[in-house]
Amino acid sequence: MTTRSTHRRTVAVVLAGGTGQRIGLAIPKQLLKIAGKPILEHTLQIFEGAPDIDDVIVLMTPDYVAEAEKIVARAGLGKVSQVLAGGSTRSETTMLAIEAVKAGLNDGEDCNLLFHDAVRPLVSQRVVKECVQALKKYQAVDVAIPSADTVIVTRMHGNDGEFITEIPDRGRLRRGQTPQGFWLSTISSAYALASSDPQFQATDDCSVVVKYLPHVPVHVVMGDEYNMKVTQPVDVFIADKLFQLASTTAPSPGGEEFYRNGLAGRTLIVFGGSYGIGSDIARMAEAYGARVFALGRSTTGTHVENPDDVEAAFSRAYAETGRIDYVVNTAGVLRIGRLDATDNATLREALEVNYLAPVNIARTAFKYLAETQGQLLLFTSSSYTRGRAEYSLYSSTKAAMVNLTQALSDEWAGDGIRVNCVNPERTATPMRTRAFGDEPSGSLLSSEMVALSSLDVLLSSLTGHVIDVRQQDPTTSQAAASEFEQALASVLHEQADSPA
Ligand code: CTP
Repeated sequence: MTTRSTHRRTVAVVLAGGTGQRIGLAIPKQLLKIAGKPILEHTLQIFEGAPDIDDVIVLMTPDYVAEAEKIVARAGLGKVSQVLAGGSTRSETTMLAIEAVKAGLNDGEDCNLLFHDAVRPLVSQRVVKECVQALKKYQAVDVAIPSADTVIVTRMHGNDGEFITEIPDRGRLRRGQTPQGFWLSTISSAYALASSDPQFQATDDCSVVVKYLPHVPVHVVMGDEYNMKVTQPVDVFIADKLFQLASTTAPSPGGEEFYRNGLAGRTLIVFGGSYGIGSDIARMAEAYGARVFALGRSTTGTHVENPDDVEAAFSRAYAETGRIDYVVNTAGVLRIGRLDATDNATLREALEVNYLAPVNIARTAFKYLAETQGQLLLFTSSSYTRGRAEYSLYSSTKAAMVNLTQALSDEWAGDGIRVNCVNPERTATPMRTRAFGDEPSGSLLSSEMVALSSLDVLLSSLTGHVIDVRQQDPTTSQAAASEFEQALASVLHEQADSPA
């Protein structure tokens, strides 16, 4: 057995050399945008944020290397050290990666390699971590999940079609995913043996070790159902929905100095700033040195649905401070009731305040935010993922905020403007009390906590995200629970609950 040093580097190899024939689009599927970003970028971001990964290399479809480089540069992915052209088969791409990594090492030096399909953008940090952990002990590691379906083996019989020849015991069957991790020395030997085999073919890397180095045990790490491979057209739809469900948890709170650095001397406009979350954001930002214009119906007489009021607010803030860095809109109305029993005035108010107003604000904000490379922050509600009886106007206008966020973050990416949307769990605000009366205080998030998370988002480089702000619940917020597990838990929780 090879002697191991205490820290061995781990290189993530993102395999993006395919064309995606089964999806059948003009561009390789890893460049398709899901939830506002190319699939490849989502995948690279996982490794960028994985503490155990030291270095990332991307093997890209030969004609699209420049495109992948652009994605890396635009997203500021500092761990990506090389973007290289892939090969004509997945195995060839893997071999090119092995050679590239070897070229950067001294003779006899070893490292860990994690090969990951670029088209699995939903891999969790847990899986990456467990793979690296397992490589401390094992030379080869796979990721797999149990098969829910019974798997049958068939054979073609002339013109009569397919017939079953075998039904393996489902309890022992697993569906292979990626990453697949290896010691460089191990995978390199396996491929060296494979390349002298004229019959060689493989669709993954563990099978190369299993076949050519049968004495090497391949440890299996439990994967996740949602670590899907975008393969067929329907997968694009499913992956998009999964991203929407998972959204993003708020960045971790910074310290005093972080807030002061990001806010002092900057100008923040808050629409809906009279009370609740908006007023808390305004108060906190001001305390950190921002020049804040908190606008509201009851305080400044600003009606967000009125384009002239919105325009006047921007002009005044710009005239007084010479810049506008952050624009937040928390204004919203929540009226519960059946649509067929809703009068004209209520319907108009819901559409104007919850939809037309943010659209107006966004349109007016553009030129100011382009000057400062600033951010527009909108608010949605957990009901955006699913409309519910008696909340038709609220849920549907809040769903529109998510779509607006994605569209504008894309549209304005070239102008350096970030656009995000906060999705607060049920929060103690005057709007909520008006709608639902007094509720047990422990069941609600505090509006200050949502305000603080909003500042974290404003000061982050995120764009195009729906950021969930949730209660710290011991059943859903353990460090180990993935975003998906948390999101699924909160969706199940909400089934019998009222929307935020
Ligand atoms: N891959 C690669 N080099 C190749 C072929 C595939 O790096 N020559 C990568 C793909 O980009 C993908 C992963 O291997 O991230 C899994 O392959 P698969 O989904 O089978 O990809 P494609 O070959 O792109 O798809 P298809 O089989 O539908 O053409």
